[in-house]
This record gives sequence, C-alpha cells and structure tokens, in this order.
Amino acid sequence: MENRIILAIESSCDETAAAIIRNGSEIVSNVVASQIESHKRFGGVVPEIASRHHVEQITVVIEEALAQANMKPDDLDAVAVTEGPGLVGALLIGINAAKAFAFANNLPIVGVHHIAGHIYANALVQPMEFPLLALVVSGGHTELVYMKEHGSFEVIGETRDDAAGEAYDKVARVLGLPYPGGPRIDKLAHEGEEAVSFPRVWLEADSYDFSFSGLKSAVINYKHNMDQRGEEICPTAVAKGFQESVVEVLTAKTLRAAREYKVKQVIAAGGVAANKGLRTSLETVFAEENIPFFVPPLKMCTDNAAMIGAAATPMFEAGIRGNLSMNGRPGMEL
Ligand code: KG4
Ligand code: ZN
Repeated sequence: MENRIILAIESSCDETAAAIIRNGSEIVSNVVASQIESHKRFGGVVPEIASRHHVEQITVVIEEALAQANMKPDDLDAVAVTEGPGLVGALLIGINAAKAFAFANNLPIVGVHHIAGHIYANALVQPMEFPLLALVVSGGHTELVYMKEHGSFEVIGETRDDAAGEAYDKVARVLGLPYPGGPRIDKLAHEGEEAVSFPRVWLEADSYDFSFSGLKSAVINYKHNMDQRGEEICPTAVAKGFQESVVEVLTAKTLRAAREYKVKQVIAAGGVAANKGLRTSLETVFAEENIPFFVPPLKMCTDNAAMIGAAATPMFEAGIRGNLSMNGRPGMEL
C-alpha cells in the first residue's frame, strides 16, 4: 500500500467526529466533538438534539481535522463515512457532508459499518492478524465477531435483549448516576470491597449469545426490595456485583469462542471495552491461554472517526466504493 490518505467522518450517535488516517494505521488527525453534556439531563441520547448538534459541528470538525493535519482536499485519496447502524437523522448529517465534500473535490466515497469501525480501532495500535475474534461491546451492540480476513465478519454471538452498555446505563440510572453510566459504575465497582451477588445468564450451553435484561431486572428488584424494607442500598456493592456478573459472562464466552475458532488474535472494541474490570479480566485469561489479546486505548474505544478511516482503508484497497445516492442505514447488518 502506498501513501493512502483518507478523511473519515462519524456521526451515528452523540459524537460528531472527523479524522485523517494514513495507510489505515496512522492517525494524522482525530477530532471529536462530544454532545454528552446536552444529553445528560435527559438521561440518554435524544435523537433530535443529536441531529441538531451534528448540523452545527460537522463542518467545524472536518475543517479542524484538515487543519490539524495541515492538509488540503487535494492531499486526500477518499472520503469515508459511517453508513449505519445508528440514529438515522444523525447518520444523514455525516453522510450528506461526506457526499458534498466528495462531490466538490472529485473524491471517491466509502460507506463504513460502525461496528467494523470499532473493531478496526485496533488496527491503529497494532496490525490485525487473522483469523481473529472480536468482542464488540457498546451502547447499542454486544457481539462476538469472527474474522477470517479483512472485510469478512461472521457474527457468532449477539445479545438477545439489552446491549452491555445499555445495561450499564440503565443500572446507573437506578443508582441515580448521570448518563453515560458505564464509566461511573466502573469507578464505583473498584471502590467497594463487598459485592451484592447477582445472577449470571449463560443461555444454552453451546450458545455464544448474551442476555443482560434479566441481570438489569435483578438489580432493579434488589433496589425495590431494599426500598420497601426501608434500607439503604450500598452503591459500590451493587456496582461491583453487577460488573462482576457482566465481566464473568463476557470473558467466559469470549474465551470459549477463541478456543473453538482457534484464532490468532483476540480484540475487544466499543465503549464498554473501556471498562477497567473487563480489560483486566480479558488480559488475564488470554495471557494464561497464550493468545495475543488487544484492546485500543480508552479514547479509541468510544465513538470516533479515526476508527472509521482505519476500517475504510482495506475496503478502499479492495475497490469498494459508495456513490452519491448513499443513504443512512439505521439497521445496517455487519
Ligand atoms: O461505542 P460507544 O461510544 O457508543 C456506541 O456505539 O454505543 O459506547 C457507549 C457505551 C455507553 O453505554 C457507555 O456507558 C459505555 O459505552 N461505556 C462504559 C465505559 N465507558 C463507556 N461501560 C462500562 N465501563 C466503562 N468504563
Ligand atoms: Zn460506537
């Protein structure tokens, strides 16, 4: 691969982001405008507010990404953008900006799956080795993805109800913590000595699927029962017990899949991969198992455009191109 330079754009949820990536692995610039503060008081992402923020920020982040890289549109080989899944109004802002930019500068456009982006965040840290297993855990996804080679994604397990991040955010709400709850529960879980015992949901013995809604309900019931008895819950013990259940199930299923599929590399991706408990647990079991395990730095776990540029690069090299009729695909499959 020669000097391949891609401008990438991400706007699928509540971050407006643009980045410039060289050869799929080097971050030349990476700009993220977060809207978290605006959504906090509603306890979650409000789609209409997200779209309005994206409209205000999209050209700002694109110009900033170019300025920080000290580049002009002429220096680019392509524009990449998140095509789906996500909030349709939010996706469309990034897609329309990408199409306008590509048209004005006569550049090809590449549409990227958001989850492929999360997985390829790892390519910004070290080369991906195949076959590979990725545990994708975010606010909208919990998936085990087997990759034979670049661009090949086989979902071997997924959540049947809530995503891991969603469960974190909902439990956080029960504990009266602000959005996004994941990082706060993670912190509380490390502050406590005691843990409340919550169930582990394994589903069928051979299944790689996940289910977190029962665990979420168990936490809600526990709080409800304590309230009725007029007792105070201990937030650190609830957080620790909840996190232990999530981490144990995610780790065990990832390990079993890595053995069965005889992979050369295991990676974790998505916002919940920023979780300290999960990172430590996966690092420990895969060190014992002698399978290289990687997880991107915290900043690369949550939504950003650098990961979209990393995922777009092998697609671009394989000749995959979108066109100016590209549309937002909220339910896009991997
Ligand atoms: O990947 P991401 O930024 O957005 C989606 O594509 O969904 O993930 C956001 C999710 C939120 O649910 C947030 O609570 C969770 O990731 N998260 C965490 C941590 N940091 C972020 N969950 C657990 N522990 C963390 N440290
Ligand atoms: Zn994401």
